[in-house]
Amino acid sequence: MKDTGLVAATKFLRHPSMVGSAFPASARMVRHMLAPVDWSKVRIAVEYGPGSGRFTFAMLERMRPDARLLAIDTGEEFVGKLRSASADRRLIVVKGSAGDVARHLAEHNLGEADLILSGLPFSTFKPSEAEAIMAATASALAPSGMFAAIRCALPSGR
Ligand SMILES: C[S@@+](CC[C@H](N)C(=O)[O-])C[C@H]1O[C@@H](n2cnc3c(N)ncnc32)[C@H](O)[C@@H]1O
Repeated sequence: MKDTGLVAATKFLRHPSMVGSAFPASARMVRHMLAPVDWSKVRIAVEYGPGSGRFTFAMLERMRPDARLLAIDTGEEFVGKLRSASADRRLIVVKGSAGDVARHLAEHNLGEADLILSGLPFSTFKPSEAEAIMAATASALAPSGMFAAIRCALPSGR
């Protein structure tokens, strides 16, 4: 069975603009990104582009026992790998686009999100696609909700 990092590298070679980076986030980056979050206030969390799950598992470690994490990824291999890698009942992994976040939340009877963390390679998206995802994100967030985006960029010129 491939490890999660190898899935990321393989997917990147096949679909560089969709994946955005051949390497999963470092442990240092994960800690840095998640440090400002008050996890006691997060009941519904959403992750866009979990990929191999570096952020997913770190979020679950910090989340309340009654919280839920909806992880949305367009990559079938990532979705399959994440589902088989975790038996955590708080985690819901769906194959789909971040632009449909409201539908995915509704389909799982989840309300507004307290936290949305994006690992999407926004720099590779068409402006209209990025704008649609940001509009969907704004509608899906609770009024006091928090949005954070990890910078996933290809080298300039791509
Ligand atoms: C750079 S990887 C991020 C991986 C992981 N979050 C990390 O930091 O290690 C980007 C991920 O976004 C996913 N992705 C690309 N477009 C997407 C979209 N519109 N909606 C959801 N996921 C998407 C890709 O399949 C890939 O898993």
